Amino acid sequence: MPGLSKDQQQRIQAVLATGPLVPVITLHREEDAVPLAEALVEGGIRVLEITLRTPQALPAIEALSKRLPGDVLVGAGTVTDPVAYRQAESAGARFVVSPGITPRLLDYGLTAHAPLLPGVATVSELMLGYELGYRAFKFFPAAVVGGLEGLKAMAGPFPDVVFCPTGGIRRDTARDYLALANVVAVGGTWLTPETQVSQGDWPGITRLVRESLASCQG
Ligand code: 3PG
Repeated sequence: MPGLSKDQQQRIQAVLATGPLVPVITLHREEDAVPLAEALVEGGIRVLEITLRTPQALPAIEALSKRLPGDVLVGAGTVTDPVAYRQAESAGARFVVSPGITPRLLDYGLTAHAPLLPGVATVSELMLGYELGYRAFKFFPAAVVGGLEGLKAMAGPFPDVVFCPTGGIRRDTARDYLALANVVAVGGTWLTPETQVSQGDWPGITRLVRESLASCQG
C-alpha cells in the first residue's frame, strides 16, 4: 500500500518545528485578520492556524499568505473533508490541520500540496494514520483525552511519532507539554483571547505571545 513518503513526513515536521507555539484562530471579522496576525508575528509567532469555522477563514488565509513575510506559515484548521482541504490549498494554506480523521481525509493528505496534520484522540486512530505513513499528529482535545499522561503513554508503542497537542492548553501548561520528548509544538486559542481581539488590543496580544514564548523557553 503506497503511503506518505519520507519527504511528505518531513514537510509537516518542518511546519511544527517552526513553532513551538501555534495560535489557533477563529476569525469573526475579516478586518481583524491582518492586524491580529501582524501582532502575533511581532511577538515571535512563525506558524499560525486559521480555522475554517467562519466564512472569514478562506479570504483571511488568502490575504495573510500574500501579506505576511515568506517565513511565516499560514495554515488551515478544522478541515474535515477533502472539499475543504482543496479550498484551503487554493487559498494558499501552507499546511492543513484536521480535528480528527476520516479515510478520505487521510487519503487526500497523501498526495496533497499542503501537508496534513491529522487529529487523533486514541491509539487506534493514530494507528490508522500510522499505517499510511503519518508520523506527526495533532492530539485533540489534549486536556480531555489524557493530557500529559496520555502523551507519555503514546511514546511507548510509537517512539517515532511526534505530536502537536491542542485543546485546553493554556499559557501556564504549554511549557509542561513542550517538555515531553514527543511533543514538538503546542496549539491553542489562549494566544488570541476573544476580548482582546474584539477590542483590537494588538499590543496586548504581542505581549501575551512574548510572555508565552518566554515561559516555554525559560
Ligand atoms: C483546536 O481546534 O485546536 C481548539 O479549538 C483549541 O481550542 P482551545 O485552545 O481553546 O482549547
